[in-house]
Amino acid sequence: MPPSLDALEASLLNASGNVKLDARFRTLFTLKGLGMAEENRMRVIEIISKGFTDDSALLKHELAYVLGQLQDVRAIPKLESVLSDTEEHAMVRHEAAEALGAISSPTALPVLRKFLEDSDVSVRETCDLAVRKIELDNSDTGRKEAEIKAHQDAHGDARAAAAHAVPPIDPAPAFVQVKAADDAQPEVENVYTLEKVPYFRSILLDEKRSLFDRYRAMFSLRNIVQRGGEAAAVPAIEALAASLKDSSALFRHEICFVFGELCHPACIAAMTKVLDDPSEHEMVRHEAAEALGGVLEESEDGPSAHEQVVATLRRWADDESAPRVVRESCIVALDEIAYNNDPTQFQRIDTVDL
Ligand SMILES: [Fe+2]
Ligand SMILES: [Fe+2]
Repeated sequence: MPPSLDALEASLLNASGNVKLDARFRTLFTLKGLGMAEENRMRVIEIISKGFTDDSALLKHELAYVLGQLQDVRAIPKLESVLSDTEEHAMVRHEAAEALGAISSPTALPVLRKFLEDSDVSVRETCDLAVRKIELDNSDTGRKEAEIKAHQDAHGDARAAAAHAVPPIDPAPAFVQVKAADDAQPEVENVYTLEKVPYFRSILLDEKRSLFDRYRAMFSLRNIVQRGGEAAAVPAIEALAASLKDSSALFRHEICFVFGELCHPACIAAMTKVLDDPSEHEMVRHEAAEALGGVLEESEDGPSAHEQVVATLRRWADDESAPRVVRESCIVALDEIAYNNDPTQFQRIDTVDL
């Protein structure tokens, strides 16, 4: 018997006072899976919305993320109030803005535009991305691109599609077309190939271009890793890793997030370096920790790579001098590793067809 929504609420909100953070994260993923079904969604939105009184910024930013991924306009008022609360942790406000972008309703544009002038640079940049995404999604160009994307997805690698029963909503859509050299007809079919790595890489690394276009190049490279065949994966990962020197912490954190999605062993070295750097922004180190937690599922690098990653995560989980979001991310990542390596666990509900 799956747990009832009431039991999940008590777990997520830690009603007993004894539920550990990692267990609450697992509950949140379960709720996300259940919330994909229309009949549960409003109740799931209510439960998750109650969690914003917690004192863990890490948990709250994940609540905002899930609300966005549920893609339901009924979550907009809560997300707007989280973004508008200037006392709230910037990482949580950033995630609320991104979630509004994921839902993509023009009704959220006034609030997002208001915080284009926020004092926190990551919040400002996220609002800019969300505004551009909503404007694109709701334009003729955006609708045309969505059609092309649907076509490409239908003809894309079935394995990549199967990896995500419900693919995540990206903060900026991958490019679906590449301009041909002679500027004749843009290429429509499969642009996620090894040959296109230099093209997307040049956009990714060009700090003169808009953050939105550079995000689009980032997700195009992510698609190349997932769909471009074995030979394309490492060059695309190297292109992504090259931008970890970018001046925007938001941009760097998204690269780490993408590495978390990819779960590719070629990401381990770069992610370890980010987590081990105490001068790096806490939001970036948090995503690096989570990426390291995910990578072990698929790593075939043997026990030594596994041990090294676990040792790195343990070290930062226990380091009192590290920011709280970094320590907590390491705890959650270690739980993820333990959970995924436990043969007695059932398949996680967010990967099950409900
Ligand atoms: Fe984020
Ligand atoms: Fe995050």
